[in-house]
Amino acid sequence: MERNCPKPRLALMIGVVASLMVGSALAADSEPTVSFQRQVLPILQEHCVMCHAPGAVGYQSVSFDARSYKGVRAGSAAGVAVIPYHPDRSPLMRVLDHAWKTNDEKALRMPPLGPQLSPDELKVISDWIKQGAKDN
Ligand code: HEC
Repeated sequence: MERNCPKPRLALMIGVVASLMVGSALAADSEPTVSFQRQVLPILQEHCVMCHAPGAVGYQSVSFDARSYKGVRAGSAAGVAVIPYHPDRSPLMRVLDHAWKTNDEKALRMPPLGPQLSPDELKVISDWIKQGAKDN
């Protein structure tokens, strides 16, 4: 009688286990999709729109309009606010986060009178940029 050779089956099992592990690693890595309208905009409405809308000081000085996707993507007089897929290079994350972590007193921080946005709020905005800053 021919004995079942265990090797191919073992290889198959290792393959299955390995692909399951890779699959779950990828799943753990990818954040749930962030919605601009449902998650990002409410943060801006709460902390930014009082100054960044026509007639208010932030809009008057740098024309950054925080009321809409279009406004955020249009950026400010200083240039773009968001570089899709690159939160670390986005001026928006600079004023919201990095500037708060430097000792440079002249670093522009938003909101200027504080407090800094919460870690959860920063993560929502950063993930949204990381996912391509989509109009979703
Ligand atoms: C109290 C009013 C006020 C609030 C609240 C405020 N800003 Fe500003 N913002 C300003 C002013 C004034 C400037 C221009 C500052 C300057 O150029 O010295 C500015 C500038 C900016 C700029 C341009 C930065 C640059 O590089 O020139 C961005 C982007 C910005 N704000 C985003 C935000 C965001 C996002 C929020 C909410 C988290 C926010 N701001 C909240 C007043 C405000």
